[in-house]
Amino acid sequence: MAMIRIHSSAGVYEVHCARGVLWRARALIARAVGDATGVFVVSSPRVWRACGREVARALGISPRRAILFDDREAAKRLATVEKIASALVRVGADRHCVVIAVGGGVVGDVAGFAAATYLRGVRLVHIPTTLVAQVDSAIGGKTGVDLPEGKNLVGAFYPPKLVIADPNLLRTLPHREYRSGLYEVIKYGVIADAKLFEFLATNMNVVLRRDPEAVDWIIQRCIAIKTRVVNEDEREAGLRKILNFGHTLGHALEAATNYKRFLHGEAVAYGMVGATLLAIATHRLDLANGHRILVAIRRVGPIPDVPRLEPSRIFSLLASDKKSRAGKVRWVLPRDIGTTEWDATVPEDLALRMIQGTRLMMEEMKIDDPIIAVRKPNLTPKPPATRNIVTLRMSPPRGKTSAR
Ligand SMILES: NC(=O)c1ccc[n+]([C@@H]2O[C@H](COP(=O)([O-])OP(=O)(O)OC[C@H]3O[C@@H](n4cnc5c(N)ncnc54)[C@H](O)[C@@H]3O)[C@@H](O)[C@H]2O)c1
Ligand SMILES: [Zn+2]
Repeated sequence: MAMIRIHSSAGVYEVHCARGVLWRARALIARAVGDATGVFVVSSPRVWRACGREVARALGISPRRAILFDDREAAKRLATVEKIASALVRVGADRHCVVIAVGGGVVGDVAGFAAATYLRGVRLVHIPTTLVAQVDSAIGGKTGVDLPEGKNLVGAFYPPKLVIADPNLLRTLPHREYRSGLYEVIKYGVIADAKLFEFLATNMNVVLRRDPEAVDWIIQRCIAIKTRVVNEDEREAGLRKILNFGHTLGHALEAATNYKRFLHGEAVAYGMVGATLLAIATHRLDLANGHRILVAIRRVGPIPDVPRLEPSRIFSLLASDKKSRAGKVRWVLPRDIGTTEWDATVPEDLALRMIQGTRLMMEEMKIDDPIIAVRKPNLTPKPPATRNIVTLRMSPPRGKTSAR
């Protein structure tokens, strides 16, 4: 798959993913947006240092023309959107211009929201530069910013006109950021793609070495899954919720540690461990598959410890999660590798034991690497729900790696 089409409420757009596709950016943008009065790059100083010259050359613009803002999570705020909008006014951007977001998920979400609201909406193109952004945030049209009260609480669905995902742009990505993205890749395998999961389980060392063929294959595979999901459920009425596997507890951990201790994917890794334990404890997932998920997560490498946190604090954060309803936490739980249930509810005492178990589990994994004992909580079995379960049938993208 070098190109895949996404059907959004605002029209069809193309995602191009291939090494070197950046050099076709000008032609692709011209085709996707037609006439434009100006092309304005929004990025961050860090990203622009890493790949600004290359991107500017590919776009045929001066690197000095980019609008740069700090892309720490703490800067993902409405005030930053205002700054970007003011900068767009100063450079003379009118409603026929194109905004090109060049960066990771923070740049994409903030610049995307700025594009959605500037002059009531100007056209947007994503050039994602992190693994998370290439496999996830640049696709599907979610844009937005955080409030002091929580993550992504203000935003808009605003699909881009085009996404250009060039894995060459990941060359300068720090390894911890790359590994953080790999947890999201594991997520895709668990929720929707047994073949991808199998590949990761057997080739994690190759993937960690960033073997180009393996990296390209996993990115394309994840894009295909995300496309499949958002094509069916753009507004997250049901199916799209499966993408939140690991994010219920993950978001709570990020908030509880003030977004400073974990990278997003790392918090999601703990969240996936927690959800996997819950799925085992409620007899949704068998022990052997649960074990395989935990081992795959562990193989990606070390993650900062979970500090001792007050369970009541975690619970109130879980209950205020966007996905909760009337304070009742809704979980995304694996039923099998590649089969997922959403909107699952579990007893609170079990969730509490899971939170404690997650901490222990990761500590044990560090001490005693491949031998991980999944302690099955001794609780009365609860009959698993039979609705909201999906197994996506993925047709493999072309490429040699799939045959390995
Ligand atoms: N919209 C969505 O659907 C969606 C999905 C997933 C995540 N997100 C959001 O994305 C954000 C996380 O995104 P992320 O993981 O991409 O992190 P990020 O945007 O914070 O980028 C991580 C770090 O890497 C740097 N960086 C980016 N590209 C680089 C490159 N090529 N070389 C060197 N350094 C580079 C950045 O400057 C930053 O310091 C979160 O705010 C999350 O909420 C949104
Ligand atoms: Zn995520």
